[in-house]
Amino acid sequence: MRRVGVVGLGTMGAGIAQVCVQAGIETVGREVSDELCESARGRIAHYLGRAVEKGRLTAEERDAALGRLTTTTELGDLAGCDLVIEAIVEELAAKQELFRLLEGVVSDGAVLATNTSALSVTEVASATEHPERVVGMHFFNPAPVLPLVEVVRTELSSLDAVDTAFELAERLGKEPIRCNDTPGFVVNRILIPLLNDCVRVLDEAGVSPQDLDKAMTRGVNWPIGPCALIDLIGVDVHVHASEALHAALGEERMAPPERLVLMRDEGKLGRKTGEGFFSYD
Ligand SMILES: NC(=O)c1ccc[n+]([C@@H]2O[C@H](COP(=O)([O-])OP(=O)(O)OC[C@H]3O[C@@H](n4cnc5c(N)ncnc54)[C@H](O)[C@@H]3O)[C@@H](O)[C@H]2O)c1
Repeated sequence: MRRVGVVGLGTMGAGIAQVCVQAGIETVGREVSDELCESARGRIAHYLGRAVEKGRLTAEERDAALGRLTTTTELGDLAGCDLVIEAIVEELAAKQELFRLLEGVVSDGAVLATNTSALSVTEVASATEHPERVVGMHFFNPAPVLPLVEVVRTELSSLDAVDTAFELAERLGKEPIRCNDTPGFVVNRILIPLLNDCVRVLDEAGVSPQDLDKAMTRGVNWPIGPCALIDLIGVDVHVHASEALHAALGEERMAPPERLVLMRDEGKLGRKTGEGFFSYD
């Protein structure tokens, strides 16, 4: 694996690109404008700088990592990539269009991976002429911190493509697992209905978000309470994923609770807006 491409340098893409350059891999990041390229580079430099301050990285290592990052607005600049990870907006049509274009850019042996949380990897792959090269690589937020990567195989994914993605994840210092292309894959299939149940319990049991989190951290030893976790994920992201899972599986527990939909509509999205179940500075 000499060169990796990352398309979409938002929350996830920038984090994934950071992990790649830190692992010593030449990385080409693609955004839709020069401003977004610069903004992503700035965020990556910021986090690498923080790692230097905390003594986890030397200044030389930071500079070397940043030197491995190229950003571009041209999809054609991904031509030399052995594997491309897509982390653009969570819309099937946009991802399909991108994969169609990417296939015309990269070499025959290159693997194309989507970081989708809730879409079908099979449907993304269906836009390509060679769906055997398409897999899911589902990183968790924040990508530089959380070790899990779900490497998702469709029925058409080749063993080689799956193994290449798995080996890349390991080289990035992650702890990947392999799984089928089923709605929510592993973690979200379990976590989303569980968090929705937690939110419903707020009203059913007449408990405050503080006490619900206390119940689950002190009674079950969860490392973080469900309300704090939804604030971290982002209420909008969680509601969107719930809707997608509900549409795919039709189970009522998957549907977003009314309370979360209201919070989303009021812009109380959690940490990123400074207010969700809790307030943040
Ligand atoms: N945020 C999370 O917690 C999380 C976790 C795991 C996976 N994901 C998935 O990762 C993907 C990206 O999510 P995010 O939270 O980083 O989103 P984001 O909005 O922070 O970033 C998306 C980026 O993609 C770019 N983009 C949008 N449309 C594009 C297009 N058509 N072509 C090229 N670039 C385009 C945007 O400029 C933006 O910078 C989504 O599929 C999401 O479901 C998100």
